[in-house]
Amino acid sequence: MTGDHYFTPEPATAAQPREVEFHVAGRQYTLASSAGVFSAARLDPGTAVLLRKADLPSPGVTGDLLDLGCGFGPITCVLASSAPSATVWAVDVNERARDLTAANAARVGAAQRVRVVAPDGVPAGVTFTQIWSNPPIRIGKDELHQLLLRWLPRLAPDGVAWLVVARHLGGDSLQRWLTEQGWRVERHASQKGFRVLRVTR
Ligand SMILES: C[S@@+](CC[C@H](N)C(=O)[O-])C[C@H]1O[C@@H](n2cnc3c(N)ncnc32)[C@H](O)[C@@H]1O
Repeated sequence: MTGDHYFTPEPATAAQPREVEFHVAGRQYTLASSAGVFSAARLDPGTAVLLRKADLPSPGVTGDLLDLGCGFGPITCVLASSAPSATVWAVDVNERARDLTAANAARVGAAQRVRVVAPDGVPAGVTFTQIWSNPPIRIGKDELHQLLLRWLPRLAPDGVAWLVVARHLGGDSLQRWLTEQGWRVERHASQKGFRVLRVTR
């Protein structure tokens, strides 16, 4: 046992390769996962609600999309598959998560369009037509707010951000806080205790 969190930059937990299967929008995904990353054994229920309820990018969507806190890459892989002309930036502090996401982008045939990077690896000039995130609530409220204050301003003027947060982990207070920061926030869906928030300028 180690004291690793899922957001540990370099997990000390031994890697235990495994696979996670799920369906989104009629397509089956079989992705590589491992101990030491978030929800290594199954698609996280919050991520499942997000991918089921939010409006996936249509095939014609181009430009840059962001998966903020990509984990092993389920959101990245769905975005890259749904929008085959878009570039997907997959950002995570956890090196093992980044390695898995890169491998999974290759599995879905999107390695050329998925840029897997640590947070400082996104060039300053890149703005996003869409931001998707099951954000890391466990880092703490102040850190979560800092994270969102860092990335949401990089939304293109007509861009949209989709967030999923469990109600019992502060989904409703996060919605209020985002509104106080001047964002337009709509509770797009609510299912199984998760809030899907649609955030625009
Ligand atoms: C709730 S998990 C979601 C993972 C993945 N998107 C999924 O749905 O399975 C949040 C992720 O955010 C990452 N994370 C934590 N702090 C971060 C930060 N400052 N910048 C980027 N990612 C971060 C964690 O390592 C973790 O992989």
